[in-house]
Amino acid sequence: MRHLLRVRDIPDAELLWLLDRADTLAKAHFITDRASSPLAGKTIINLFFEPSTRTLAAFELAGKKLGADVLSLPVATSSLQKGESILDTARTLAAMRPAVLVIRQREEGVLEKIAAAVSCSVVNAGEGRLEHPTQALADALTIRRRKGTLAGVRVAIIGDIAHSRVARSNVALLTRLGAMVHLIAPEALLPKDVQATTATRLFTNLKDGLTGADVVMALRVQRERMDEYALGQDISNYHLDRQSLAFAKPDAIVMHPGPMNRGVEIDGALADDPVRSAILEQVELGVAVRMACLEAVSKTGQKTGIDTAPTYC
Ligand code: CP
Repeated sequence: MRHLLRVRDIPDAELLWLLDRADTLAKAHFITDRASSPLAGKTIINLFFEPSTRTLAAFELAGKKLGADVLSLPVATSSLQKGESILDTARTLAAMRPAVLVIRQREEGVLEKIAAAVSCSVVNAGEGRLEHPTQALADALTIRRRKGTLAGVRVAIIGDIAHSRVARSNVALLTRLGAMVHLIAPEALLPKDVQATTATRLFTNLKDGLTGADVVMALRVQRERMDEYALGQDISNYHLDRQSLAFAKPDAIVMHPGPMNRGVEIDGALADDPVRSAILEQVELGVAVRMACLEAVSKTGQKTGIDTAPTYC
């Protein structure tokens, strides 16, 4: 796995290793032997063209805990403001010989172009509506820890599915790990590109979608990716609170990838419920998962990236 752009980039053998390794790192409070880390003394550059709190902080901490030098480029004051393209920005930073570029990008398809144009590893930290693979890994590990397995677990995802990269990555990852995913939204906010299968079902009725769920994940309304029609949709019937959670199993857990809009897609008191809510666990495991992902790509990156002559296309 030289790059991690999509869930499908993760080979089967690597997938369980990533979850197990992240679990071990989380149990060790992220403490690892920096000197023997594959990232020791190497450079990681975070390039976030969209706002972020947890993903950026998690990647920055993950890199530092693995003994890497981590640079998070302040995009707002970068030469992008002088008209430099995103591809030229990425190539410029790649010329400084990082082992890994971690990129968040609004425009879909740019990450693939960057990965083809640089010699280091590229990790997707959120790409438009397409994918957010490391968030899905953190979610999968959270569910596995709380439920003991992913096989046969029913995960209901409620809200703005159409514009959600988290939902797409979770469908790809959780079904691969044996879970069943229910996507619940008003018709206009269901994705056109996600087909119903035996493992993935689409619902417009909240009660039908939540019935029998072991996990209920609420999603933020992603206004920044919506057109006027989508913005006009009423999502008040797709709110996660104690009343709607009662349709799920009595021990169903509550998740949210963040950032949350309390009182919009999720009830604030439910989000803070220490028994039902796993939201802060998702954040904590997000650091461990990013450490495991950086280790995984840098092992390959050593061979194909910084230890060979760089190519600048
Ligand atoms: N879940 C997630 O991607 O959060 P941030 O936008 O804060 O990184």
